Amino acid sequence: MPALIAGDSRYFIRRMQEGDLPAVRAIEALSFSNPWSDDTFRGEIQNTSISFPFVVVRRPGDEVVAYIVFWQIRDDIQVNNIAVHPDCRALGIGEALMRFAVAKVRGEGAAFMSLEVRQSNTAAVTLYKKLGFEVLGTRKNYYTKPDEDAFVMGLVLDQ
Ligand SMILES: CC(C)(COP(=O)(O)OP(=O)(O)OC[C@H]1O[C@@H](n2cnc3c(N)ncnc32)[C@H](O)[C@@H]1OP(=O)(O)O)[C@@H](O)C(=O)NCCC(=O)NCCS
Repeated sequence: MPALIAGDSRYFIRRMQEGDLPAVRAIEALSFSNPWSDDTFRGEIQNTSISFPFVVVRRPGDEVVAYIVFWQIRDDIQVNNIAVHPDCRALGIGEALMRFAVAKVRGEGAAFMSLEVRQSNTAAVTLYKKLGFEVLGTRKNYYTKPDEDAFVMGLVLDQ
């Protein structure tokens, strides 16, 4: 299992498994007003041809502290979900998880990565901009609870 952050032997990354769902759902409920269901996460785990769900576990204990879900359709990548447990934020885990995804798909020849984010989500927007994502446009009323527009953000993956 690869270490998530170079030189830090606490956090490791591996593919999400069905046994992770209780921990993943707990983080999801703490992170979003409109959380994904167990069935949605299960579908991502089973859709192995397109979907790439990964978790970050903390040692010792192997507790799930973060996850990411992205779709890879030919050379186009869509980040569909990312969250870090509130107790583990601002430690560099979200950034390292995004960098892991970018490096993985870049190594496989992907050309473009995109995502939607609530316009008020300063932490996520700042993280994506730090990684080189740019705002490409907006989607009106993309979110509910509360209603809000999304930024569409994209990153060209230079080979
Ligand atoms: C967005 C999220 C994944 C970031 O994860 P994190 O592990 O806390 O972030 P990191 O510690 O890796 O921070 C990396 C960078 O993100 C930005 N960032 C993170 N938290 C921030 C905050 N509260 N305010 C502003 N910028 C922030 C900074 O640029 C930071 O780099 P810096 O430390 O050099 O300033 C996390 O806040 C989260 O899980 N939020 C709830 C779920 C969510 O909104 N997901 C995104 C949906 S599109």
